[in-house]
Amino acid sequence: MKAAHRPFGDNSAPDYLDRLRFPVDPWRLVETEFSRKDIGVTETLFAVGNGYLGLRGNVEDGHDAHAHGTFINGFHETWKILHAEEAYGFARTGQTIVNVPDPKIIRLYVNDEPLLLSIADLVSYSRVLDMRDGVLSRDLLWRTPSGNRVRVRSKRMVSFAQRHLALMTFEVTLLDEEAPIAISSQLLNRQAGLDEYRANPSPDVIADPRKAERLETRVLEPRLHHAEGDRVVLGYQAASSDMTLATAMEHWVDFEDDYDRVTEVEQDYAKHVFRARAKPGQTFSLTKVVSYHTSRAVPARELADRCNRTLDRVRSEGISTQFEDQRQWLADFWDRSDVEIEGHDSVQQAVRWNLFQLAQAAARGDGHGIAAKGVTGSGYGGHYFWDSEIYALPFFTYTSPVIARNALRYRYRMLGAAERRAGELAQNGALFPWRTINGEEASAYYAAGTAQYHIDADIAYAIDKYVRATGDDDFLAREGIDILVQTARMWADLGFWRRVAGNGESFRIHGVTGPDEYTTVVNDNLYTNVMARFNLRCAAESVRKLQDRWPDQFSRLVSRLEVTEQEIQEWERAADGMAILWDEQLGIHPQDALFNEREVWDLANTPAEKRPLLLHFHPLVIYRFQVLKQADVVLALFLQGEDFTAEQKKADFDYYDPITTGDSTLSGVVQSIIAAEVGYHELALRYFWDSLYVDLGDLHSNASDGVHVASTGGVWSALVYGFGGFRDQNDVLKFDPRLPDGWDSLTFRLSQRGTRVKVVVRPEDVTFSIEEGPGLSVEVRGARFSLTQLQPLTVPLDGQGPRLAGAPDATAFHGTVRADGTVIRPSLPANVNDDVAPTHEIDLEAVAERVQE
Ligand code: BGC
Repeated sequence: MKAAHRPFGDNSAPDYLDRLRFPVDPWRLVETEFSRKDIGVTETLFAVGNGYLGLRGNVEDGHDAHAHGTFINGFHETWKILHAEEAYGFARTGQTIVNVPDPKIIRLYVNDEPLLLSIADLVSYSRVLDMRDGVLSRDLLWRTPSGNRVRVRSKRMVSFAQRHLALMTFEVTLLDEEAPIAISSQLLNRQAGLDEYRANPSPDVIADPRKAERLETRVLEPRLHHAEGDRVVLGYQAASSDMTLATAMEHWVDFEDDYDRVTEVEQDYAKHVFRARAKPGQTFSLTKVVSYHTSRAVPARELADRCNRTLDRVRSEGISTQFEDQRQWLADFWDRSDVEIEGHDSVQQAVRWNLFQLAQAAARGDGHGIAAKGVTGSGYGGHYFWDSEIYALPFFTYTSPVIARNALRYRYRMLGAAERRAGELAQNGALFPWRTINGEEASAYYAAGTAQYHIDADIAYAIDKYVRATGDDDFLAREGIDILVQTARMWADLGFWRRVAGNGESFRIHGVTGPDEYTTVVNDNLYTNVMARFNLRCAAESVRKLQDRWPDQFSRLVSRLEVTEQEIQEWERAADGMAILWDEQLGIHPQDALFNEREVWDLANTPAEKRPLLLHFHPLVIYRFQVLKQADVVLALFLQGEDFTAEQKKADFDYYDPITTGDSTLSGVVQSIIAAEVGYHELALRYFWDSLYVDLGDLHSNASDGVHVASTGGVWSALVYGFGGFRDQNDVLKFDPRLPDGWDSLTFRLSQRGTRVKVVVRPEDVTFSIEEGPGLSVEVRGARFSLTQLQPLTVPLDGQGPRLAGAPDATAFHGTVRADGTVIRPSLPANVNDDVAPTHEIDLEAVAERVQE
């Protein structure tokens, strides 16, 4: 990780952006200079999408690129996973998001000279992602080789209002001399390898051998291509997954003189070339409207009709309506979701960029999951992980619950596959896949994949939060309950009762991996047991709620799933008897039954060039040590905080924080929240900065693969749960704020059951005002208040919770004698200082692609 840490005591915000090139602006990300050097990162930072369709921030000329990317959430190809050594029940079906035909290419020729950004003489240049307009725009002045200055203004938008729609505009004005101009606007199936410029191949092709293999054979098989007037349509079917796709594009021209148009359509390629003689001061304006429709079953021909309908509608409504609808959609989004940090414009900009990414990853996914990279890149193959439920959904549940509902309904649609998967793993109930697009397990590495059974409880957790926050009992009764019952059944069956002499009986869960992927396949992982206990209780309570309140729904459930009273009691008994391990000697919760027996990895003496560990050490080396990729026990302390005392939280945090590498971006946000709660206020802020700039500062050196969506959700959580001190363990919203030193105020909004409350935390008080809906109750440090629309409520705060300086002492446990008489002394694998790793034999990027966050 690239973040440079300053000494504690300096609370000012670090800046990871070059402010000459990316000036501070609270609502916009602005780039004032084009550079090839970090083109992969800027393609990610300037990507536009709506959760269904995503366009990377590739330049219009379609030439220089790190990775040309146009993605549709869930549109994937399947392939057979070839394991070097087979075993029963291994994942079989690889799934990879497909790069769909690229509509971004608009090439300009003036006097037959092409505008190529990387070599053009640019008099001025700016590119702006406006987070209120939802539009990416570019404005440049180009001096052609013959000295003619040409102004080129363009816009790109993927509509939140109409999810199948992308819009582009391109305006060319010659400033000095009359000249012939040509604009070639294209729609190109890059999967077929057609690119007249032979643009850089996508690095994914190099990095991921599976994709390289796929690209040798055709993925998108042509089904139709035709042109009709201003419009062209292309249709395809994926060779193996059979998914279908159609895309249509149409152009409108605004030019006061004559121009001509040439249209070419082939099966992988559609092009309109517009030619004119432009006089100085005249503007040639082109509008490009593109629509995509995809399906698992509908033939491409029918999808083409749908594309036509989308374009017809846009034609009748007009372009300005689309831009206006976009602005309105985002105005509503920000009303519900904005988080404001007074007096820190650079931080504000970064916060909004992160929140905007959440909208871009999920808003119009309508029935799809939230991929680890949203629709901004092909990293992680476009797969859905627990990232959705634990990192992204809290934001949506409290700000745009309909988006949370859609994502949860997607899990419901996967339930059948999860039931089959449980069967394959010899379990009752349902086991959700660790990573997937189509519902089947796609993780080829079971130790850090399928073994993460906690995914079941993570989904149950998100359902519970959603239902409590919205009161959407209809979703619970018709869909959510089936997931809760089937996941509870999985736990009840996976765990078993064990009697230990003198210690009674407890319910154990063996052979699982917790969130920390640096320790795998263990017994009684604390996070898993705590979350499984929650899942069992939640299922039992929800079934009883149904029985009491909606007997009809309850009878349907009983006939659907044959739930019995005896079974519910078993869940409750298993939850009550769940083994929650505690190490008396160290005074902490061990991460798993054998965790504390391992040697402690000496992180303080690990050379920076050996980080992240997963790129430099065989998993077995890492597994042998106490060292964490990401928060595990500490995440349990956050998600099920009421299960732990304040002393336990502090002790656990003190122990685990110094041995947590943060090699996953899913870690820092959680460490920030618990650091804030236990009082390490400076450390909380430090973790927050590292998360806020994960992509903007490319702190993990892989922003070019796409946005780290879980981390963007974590940024919201760190602000609202961490500094805002919000907790939602029951039906009442609770607050115990931890405003960082130097912040004048932090403002955020939460919606609960139709009421939206604005919360403003200041150093000396917290103020609640109802912005919408009848009102609700809140609790501030144990005192309950009822809020109504009539007037805001201000509650004085006596400080911002405990204030501990610095970070936990990394050496505090060194020299401690364990229960078995051995002494804790940190150590390192023998070769840690060897510089010559045989990296040339390993495709490190491929490893990173697979396992690194
Ligand atoms: C993390 C997982 C995460 C995945 C996708 C991995 O590096 O360890 O927890 O789900 O990335 O973001």
